[in-house]
Amino acid sequence: MSNIELVEKARQALEAAYAVYSGFPVGAACLWSSGLITLGCNIENASYGLTMCAERVALFTGVAQGERHLRALAVAVVGAEFAVPCGACLQVLAEWATELPICLAKGSGELRVTYLQELLPVVFKIDGIK
Ligand code: THU
Repeated sequence: MSNIELVEKARQALEAAYAVYSGFPVGAACLWSSGLITLGCNIENASYGLTMCAERVALFTGVAQGERHLRALAVAVVGAEFAVPCGACLQVLAEWATELPICLAKGSGELRVTYLQELLPVVFKIDGIK
């Protein structure tokens, strides 16, 4: 599975985004060690704080199917700028991957690859930092 193929899945996930309050649809695709791909989109709520990000929807969908080892993530937006996963999503992602490539895609089709360790160099762990 190439970055381009995983981004294409994230773009497909965008179509289901429920972003009626922000007008900012996001799609995400997780590639797991088994080869399974799970998709997610942002799901907003009239009580804004209850909104769920696309990344966590994609991630939790995989975990709920028994997946435990996340290999790659793609995040797609329609806007003109790349969007990185928010801090809460980074912390949640870190539970399921050590080295995680994250492929970002913006509306123009341009891609950029970054890494979880780059975006979140220090992660909260119950047994402290190493
Ligand atoms: N959003 C995501 O889906 N992922 C992120 O990492 C950051 C933000 C969504 C939440 C909300 O529906 C919209 O983008 C604007 O914040």
